[in-house]
Amino acid sequence: MPESVRIHLLPDLLISQIAAGEVVDRPASVLKELLENALDADSSTIQIQLEEGGVKLIRVSDDGIGIARDELALALLRHATSKINSLDDLERVGTLGFRGEALASVAAVARVTLTSRQRGEQASKQHAWRLAAATGATPEPAALLAGTVVEMRDLYYNTPARRKFLKSDNTEFAHCTEAVKRIALAHPEVAFTLSHNTRVNLHLPRSDARTRAGSLLGEDFLAEARCLDVQAGPLRVAGYCALPAYSRARSDAQYCYVNGRFVRDKLLGHAVREAYQDLLHGSRYPAYCLFLEIDPAGIDVNVHPQKTEVRFRDARAVHQFVFHAVQRVLAAPLTAVPASSDVGNLQLRPASDHQTAGWPESQASPEAGSTEYPTFGNRAAYQGSLRVGEPTASNAYLAFA
Ligand SMILES: Nc1ncnc2c1ncn2[C@@H]1O[C@H](COP(=O)(O)OP(=O)(O)OP(=O)(O)O)[C@@H](O)[C@H]1O
Ligand SMILES: [Mg+2]
Repeated sequence: MPESVRIHLLPDLLISQIAAGEVVDRPASVLKELLENALDADSSTIQIQLEEGGVKLIRVSDDGIGIARDELALALLRHATSKINSLDDLERVGTLGFRGEALASVAAVARVTLTSRQRGEQASKQHAWRLAAATGATPEPAALLAGTVVEMRDLYYNTPARRKFLKSDNTEFAHCTEAVKRIALAHPEVAFTLSHNTRVNLHLPRSDARTRAGSLLGEDFLAEARCLDVQAGPLRVAGYCALPAYSRARSDAQYCYVNGRFVRDKLLGHAVREAYQDLLHGSRYPAYCLFLEIDPAGIDVNVHPQKTEVRFRDARAVHQFVFHAVQRVLAAPLTAVPASSDVGNLQLRPASDHQTAGWPESQASPEAGSTEYPTFGNRAAYQGSLRVGEPTASNAYLAFA
């Protein structure tokens, strides 16, 4: 250490680049942030275009509420958000974003352009506006029918040292695909298209939870999985748990969500593992996709830079609830015998313990032709007060006695 060190304030750009290190560690983390913004903006169709694993280009186009012309520059500033106003809001936050730093972080390490057209009657007479973060000046008129297009080019162009940590395009693309999968699983009511170097890799039309799970996790997973939907007081857990026959050598088929947010949560992971304990060999990993719904006031989502962890106010109660729900669904004897290996053909018979399993009678199949797509992780359920018992797709449900 030198004899005298002088304390000095860092320049703004360097502050942003340091902060960006926490939020942006590869193209997939940029993509996750842009997708979360599109979902928070009430989009129903999201298109993703990537080039060179997302390093050269990530373009996310949505049909959401859009951003007003005068707020485009603000959206790119740190600590600028439309999602919370107070500490109270933060403690009950129902949106995926809330810190107001994702776009600023991305813009600190890549070239970012925003193009947007605000939803609404007055705005419909207006055209869209485009703003390039680098120029930061006045927005220019642009052509866009609806929603927002966020374009990120040349990730780490100004921080070459970080660029060296990127892996091959194929590896980065695989991480991007996984980021889309995690988000799309929780939002079947939203259509997603993912293309890479002009080739369409994934096309997910709007659907119900079961169809989306089949598209992303595979029909073979669903054929070996049991469906659960259990509610106790303010807690609800729904989703699929694969039977031991579908166990894996790696933990790569484990999807856990809290209020629609994908999390890697030790507590939930432990609860599920315990539930499988007597059924699985120690070297095997269970496959599952579980959506926990909880009053937003019962969790702290502001504990991880990338928001992939949460803290539960009553961790013990959550652990016990998830453990018992999964254990019970795995242990219950199967009374509905598959008519064929096609999960969609499983006969659904009302089981006598619907009430105790917290399986609401309202969980009927969606009306034919209905545009309301039932989901496990319904966004509306955690924006504001918690609503449970939203209808979910039933044709994949197994009935348990
Ligand atoms: N696709 C979009 N559609 C509409 N508004 C958007 C979109 N993307 C960003 N915004 C607006 O820009 C603001 C800043 O976005 P940014 O992602 O930086 O912060 P945030 O989502 O509020 O919080 P976080 O940093 O936790 O993601 C948002 O609060 C939102 O108002
Ligand atoms: Mg955001």
